[in-house]
Formats: sequence, structure tokens, C-alpha cells
Amino acid sequence: MIMIQDDLKAAAARDAVKLVRDRQIVGLGSGSTCKIFIIELGRLVRNGLDITGVPTSKEIEALAGDNGIKTLAIDEVERIDIAVDGADEIDMRLNLIKGYGGALLREKIVASKADNFVIIADESKLVEKLGDRGIIPVEIKKNGCEQTLKELGRIGKAEIREKDGNFFVTDNGNLIADLKTRITDPSAMDKEIKSIEGVLETGLFISMADFAIIGTEKGVLHMGGHRKKTGVKA
Ligand code: 5RP
Repeated sequence: MIMIQDDLKAAAARDAVKLVRDRQIVGLGSGSTCKIFIIELGRLVRNGLDITGVPTSKEIEALAGDNGIKTLAIDEVERIDIAVDGADEIDMRLNLIKGYGGALLREKIVASKADNFVIIADESKLVEKLGDRGIIPVEIKKNGCEQTLKELGRIGKAEIREKDGNFFVTDNGNLIADLKTRITDPSAMDKEIKSIEGVLETGLFISMADFAIIGTEKGVLHMGGHRKKTGVKA
């Protein structure tokens, strides 16, 4: 049977739901794969699972509410048991590019508070080298954005993201610069971008993900297996 991309996303999302335990604080990532995860999690909540979600975007906060999942804001929690999020690129070491959906700043804060950071995606997101699929999204301040863009232009081709003919504005009231460049050392690239005045966060998630669940034509693939407090393993 040929599976379409949405089926592969759904397979990964359904597998991830099995990792969630009663009374956990769960980071709720953004994007289409995470939406399936949240709907599945909502089913378990209606059947008695008691969890608290920490959403990474306003859209996901609304979806969690619609699915009966109670939520807390990022600032209201010190730590998160497990955060489940999507990705735009995943390399073999589980380094990521995120932020095609524009939620990268909150996603990174949630991931950094999580004891276990689990990625769910379909196999199209697997890359040999970060940058293979396209861009690095960079969240930047509105004030002075032209100068920030000029500085980013020294690293690669940088453009302010637009939506419906206007600048795309993040949930935090900032802009996204999409940077196209060659990445040889992802960690050095992350530092270089962050050193630019006006840059708030990059979509490079280096050494953050513990585990990835990938929907493939051949079945669900588990990558990683760093075991932390909640016992997530490959
Ligand atoms: C949003 C993200 C998403 O997690 C990423 O874009 C993946 O989305 P999808 O599951 O729709 O492919 O980083 O900022």
C-alpha cells in the first residue's frame, strides 16, 4: 500500500502518544504532525489521562483547549517531562532545523525545559546534512530589522518572511528572516547567527533532541535512544 505523507505523519504522531504517562507535563509542539499528536492525546485525556500541556504557539494552545487538554504557559513551569515537536530537517545525529511554521522561539524554550525532547516527522524530513532542504529560519526583532538583515546577508541570502503580502509576525510580535546558506558546522553557524544584533533565536536545534519517531513507507522508525528520566528509548 502506498502511504501518503499525511499517513506517515499520523503514524509517527500515534506512536509518540504511547510515550506520555499520567500526571506528566507535556510540551506541545507546532505544525501539522503535532496537530495529529494533540488530537490523539485529547482522546486519551477524554478517557481519563491526566496531563498538562505547554503549548508552543497560540494556534496549538487553542487546539489543545478544543481537545480538552489543560495548559500552562511556558513561564508557569520550571520543567517539562516530555516535549513532542515536529521538525523541518533531521540529520543522523538528531540535529534539527525547525521554524518553517514560525514558532521556533517558543519551541526552543519548551525543548530546553524538557527532560525528554521527542521529534515526530515523516521521512521526507531526514537529511544527510542540515540545510539540504532549504533555509534556516531566524527570529529577529522588528526594530532595526534592516540592519539585522544586512548582517545576516554576510552569512547567506536572507529574506524577511512574508505571508499574504505582509511581513509574517510571530506569536511574540517579531519577524522571521529566512536564511539560505551552506552549513558546514551547525553549532558554529548557530553561534555566528546569534552573535548578530537583533537576532532572538535560530531554527538550528543542535544536540537537543533525545529521540525521533519517523513515519516511513516501511513502518515507524525510532532514532536516538538517549534515555533520560522518563525512560524513553529506541
Ligand atoms: C514550526 C515547526 C514545525 O514543527 C515544523 O515546521 C514541522 O511542521 P510539519 O509537522 O507541519 O511538517 O518547526 O515552527
